[in-house]
Amino acid sequence: MSDPATASPLTARHDRLAGALSDAGLDALVLNPSPSLTYLTGLHFHLSERPVVGIFTPGGAPALVLPELEAQKLEGAPFRAKAFTYSEDLSTWGPAFREAAEAAGIEGKRVGVEPRSLRVLELRLLEKAAPDAAFVSGEDAVAALRMRKDEAELALMRKAVVIAQNALEATLPAVRPGVTEREIAAELILHMLREGSDGELPFQPIIAFGANSANPHAVPTDYALQMGDLVLFDWGANERGYFSDLTRTFRMGGVDPELAKIADIVRRANRAGFEAAGPGVPAGVVDDVARKVIEDAGYGEYFVHRTGHGLGMEVHEEPYIRGDNERLLDVGMTFTIEPGIYLPGRGGVRIEDDVVITEDGAESLSDLPRGLLPLG
Ligand code: CO
Repeated sequence: MSDPATASPLTARHDRLAGALSDAGLDALVLNPSPSLTYLTGLHFHLSERPVVGIFTPGGAPALVLPELEAQKLEGAPFRAKAFTYSEDLSTWGPAFREAAEAAGIEGKRVGVEPRSLRVLELRLLEKAAPDAAFVSGEDAVAALRMRKDEAELALMRKAVVIAQNALEATLPAVRPGVTEREIAAELILHMLREGSDGELPFQPIIAFGANSANPHAVPTDYALQMGDLVLFDWGANERGYFSDLTRTFRMGGVDPELAKIADIVRRANRAGFEAAGPGVPAGVVDDVARKVIEDAGYGEYFVHRTGHGLGMEVHEEPYIRGDNERLLDVGMTFTIEPGIYLPGRGGVRIEDDVVITEDGAESLSDLPRGLLPLG
């Protein structure tokens, strides 16, 4: 089934593929079921025991190897593709791969793959089908292709943010002394599904109360909320394969003045990072600027992670907002800005927004209040 929201930009994506491949010194790109395969086909394939690969070459129609029982998926595809199918008889896999490799002309060529996605299963079949091809990392080409979001993608990301924000607002009334992190996680997930998120959430929401909020990767526990606790939510929704990823921190009643103070510092760091972001700015500068606010306030050692990460069809992708990343931000790039301060044993505050680079700066897709608001 083709996805109407991504059907029209497919031609533009295929056109850009040629440039991305030649910049990376590659002749072709081979993808198995992954966000990148969906990006270039508009089709959703499942990773299963049956191998599926798409071979993409500049200007040519993609060659797709897939089981007969999935061939029907290509019928509605909004682009030309050559299908090479195999049956339930395992001896038909090799010939299907060989014919596809021949049709795509990859023998003896430099072929990019996604090292974190392609399995030994597909790689062995490809190596047999094109023994003189070099299969190398195509990560740079994939990043160059996918980093700048087109309008169709941005529309989906905006929707994913709206779903997540509405779900949080629907969940907050349930947060009161005595509820557990797990109970609130269940509520939040329920509300995300009700608001229209796809069932496959980008990640398991983090709900962290009190001292647990000092762990940036906390997992919801049976800890019951007490007055004076911080309440941290890190959650996101999925709109047809595009994700949101937000964090907000609240307080249950009055909190230790130092926790209120770090909340204010984090809010200023989030703001400073956002204001620093714009086209032509190195990604690392956004990290530097946000980090400086926290360092100047004397809490540098408690900001233990990078300021953000690219976001789109994956929760973590390029551009990474890390001090050493010299990659220049460009119009259409989407990423998180999420500084935090974590005081072990006491509590942590993180404020995370999803932003897109615009012609003259950046736009935040998320607009929930960022202050340390009281609950109940
Ligand atoms: Co994040």
